[in-house]
Amino acid sequence: MKKILISAAVGILLSGVSLFGAENKSVEKVYQKECGSCHMAYQPQFLPQRSWNKMMKNLDNHFEVDASLDANDNKMILAYLTSNAGDVKASNKHFSKMSNSIASSETPLRISQTPYFLKEHRGIPKRLIEQKEVKSLANCSACHTSATQGNYSERAIKIPNYGRWED
Ligand code: HEC
Ligand code: HEC
Repeated sequence: MKKILISAAVGILLSGVSLFGAENKSVEKVYQKECGSCHMAYQPQFLPQRSWNKMMKNLDNHFEVDASLDANDNKMILAYLTSNAGDVKASNKHFSKMSNSIASSETPLRISQTPYFLKEHRGIPKRLIEQKEVKSLANCSACHTSATQGNYSERAIKIPNYGRWED
């Protein structure tokens, strides 16, 4: 009985995975297009599901800009974000550290204000952040040269008008 149940569950799981895989490419494209025009399309792993849920409900007032989408795109992107969120799918140590640093009582909308992020970035002088080539810590790819590929390793950091970061 137990065995049958388990193999049925595995079957459902596997078919779910392959379905998602096929669908994934086009969803990712929509995400890149709709959420990567004003800033880079942040990796969904940086925030927990509850954060994405909250953000996608309030896109008309998104950090003081209107980023609203039609209902279909919103639904599609929300599904993509929540199924890859940090609390369900942290795929490397940076993502899991970021995600684990968020208290379960918190629902941050900014990656750049999560505890692990603040700890990692507190040593950077203000002038290097405020300079026009960077402007804000939300501008990940200004310093992390491979951020859009999800690579945040120290070797891929180069701050404008400063260079490589050695700590
Ligand atoms: C019309 C422009 C625009 C669009 C489109 C847009 N955003 Fe934003 N987003 C902003 C601005 C402006 C900020 C604040 C940036 C700053 O503080 O420098 C922001 C900030 C964010 C942040 C927080 C960054 C941080 O500080 O860690 C996240 C996460 C985010 N956006 C996700 C999304 C998602 C998901 C979408 C697609 C549904 C999206 N954005 C679409 C303008 C936009
Ligand atoms: C002004 C430049 C700058 C910006 C903008 C910036 N970072 Fe960083 N980031 C750094 C530096 C420098 C470090 C290394 C800090 C250290 O190791 O002392 C770092 C470290 C990190 C780390 C940890 C890497 C490790 O090896 O442990 C992650 C993850 C990260 N940043 C993600 C982000 C994300 C996501 C964004 C955008 C929301 C962002 N950063 C924006 C400069 C920046």
